[in-house]
Amino acid sequence: MFTVGILTISDKGSRGERQDESSPVIRGCLAGLEAGVREYDIVPDEREIVSGKLKEWADEARLDLVLTTGGSGLGPRDVTPEATLEVIDRLAPGFTEAMRVESLKITPLAMLSRAIAGIRKNTLIINLPGSPRAVKECLEVILPTLPHAIEVLQGKSTECAR
Ligand code: MTE
Repeated sequence: MFTVGILTISDKGSRGERQDESSPVIRGCLAGLEAGVREYDIVPDEREIVSGKLKEWADEARLDLVLTTGGSGLGPRDVTPEATLEVIDRLAPGFTEAMRVESLKITPLAMLSRAIAGIRKNTLIINLPGSPRAVKECLEVILPTLPHAIEVLQGKSTECAR
């Protein structure tokens, strides 16, 4: 069992002007895994608010995995990658590389993704896109690898057996 936080990053969502349809998609995708969603929040596209929440969930809640959704494109308010970069100790680029490679087979818009993934202490943080459809397409790519990735991160598994 691993613990998860879902952070929705959306100006409109945080003001109650748009319903968060992406976090339920994430919960649905995780349903088949031994994963427990312990934290959820929705925050505006403000770098310091996003990085503060990521720090809190890594350092105090000590979650195994944090999935962010939204704010990872080219828009002037899209600061999720910068907020994530600010808090991680180490990059884990394979997750976002894989998501972009597979997503490009579906839509050229995938090249607009600036999502990053990395590790803060024992917490793996992965940026996902904001739209419900894009979230599902991306999460399905990395989902099979997540349990093993978290075991390795926690030092519970030293071998990457195939
Ligand atoms: N990836 C997949 N699989 N499907 C998509 O529709 N949309 C792209 C990209 N990645 C998309 C995708 C678009 S349009 C953007 S702007 C970026 O994700 C970032 O999305 P965000 O700003 O909502 O986080």
